Amino acid sequence: MASESGHQMALTTQGALASQVAIVTGASSGIGAATARELARRGATVVLAARRAEELEAQAAVITAAGGQALVVLTDMTDAAQVARLAARTLEVYGRVDVLVNNAGLGADRAFARTAPEDITHTVQVNLLGTMLLTRALLPEMLRQRRGAIIAVASVAGLIAAEPIYSATKYGVRGFMLSLRRQVAGSGVSVSLVSPGFIRTPLTRGLRVPLMPGPEVVARRIARLITHPRREVVVPRYYRVAVFFERTMPWLVDLAFRPRGRGK
Ligand SMILES: NC(=O)c1ccc[n+]([C@@H]2O[C@H](COP(=O)([O-])OP(=O)(O)OC[C@H]3O[C@@H](n4cnc5c(N)ncnc54)[C@H](OP(=O)(O)O)[C@@H]3O)[C@@H](O)[C@H]2O)c1
Repeated sequence: MASESGHQMALTTQGALASQVAIVTGASSGIGAATARELARRGATVVLAARRAEELEAQAAVITAAGGQALVVLTDMTDAAQVARLAARTLEVYGRVDVLVNNAGLGADRAFARTAPEDITHTVQVNLLGTMLLTRALLPEMLRQRRGAIIAVASVAGLIAAEPIYSATKYGVRGFMLSLRRQVAGSGVSVSLVSPGFIRTPLTRGLRVPLMPGPEVVARRIARLITHPRREVVVPRYYRVAVFFERTMPWLVDLAFRPRGRGK
């Protein structure tokens, strides 16, 4: 059952995103938490959604301590009723929704042949289905307003085939968002994708990757997409080189993956 708590319910009147209501999923840690803070800093009223109440309340407290507005709505993205309630609760409290950041997600790091079928279902539900259902719940209101920004956090793993389950969900998110963008063109609702490379968050804890920027880099890019929508941005930009190789010389990328040999 979803629950919620409000922190300074009135809409902010200063900042580039003043008077805008933004929902951020997966706002309890990493990129989502950084995005919620960044949007609030720019004046948006932020609805923070995820499962962990304590972490969400801590993020909301940081936002309100800095003078921002936040509403916590506990939401498990695998539960369609809770996803619907997140949308309904936001509209009930604020009467509008201007920004949706579909960010909640989890990784997959086990060889496909050894992954439990229920883990496959779970990952698809959070990463792909949750994004589609929440967007479906909010899009009619945005179309009615003739205004809104829908952003999804995909991944470079949605541009480079890297992990069978994770990449399947992120290619899926990209397919969904890129075609939705075409379907709503001219409606006043923008649809943008952000595809991050490795970012320092709990998701990548323990990975030894040189040059891992913090989640604020992605958060700032997401904030900019609200006012300057783009089809897709890769963050950091240097991952575009790897994407170029995947598109033009996938056999070369095959070689880079070969030493892993985890499929066996
Ligand atoms: N870090 C990277 O290198 C990287 C790179 C590319 C893309 N991404 C993408 O960025 C997004 C955020 O990841 P992150 O790196 O910030 O990882 P993170 O710190 O682990 O954050 C994941 C967030 O998703 C939420 N979440 C997970 N399962 C959920 C569920 N069933 N219902 C609702 N919320 C759920 C978590 O909240 P609760 O556990 O509280 O529910 C948490 O807030 C993901 O979509 C990820 O695929 C990350």
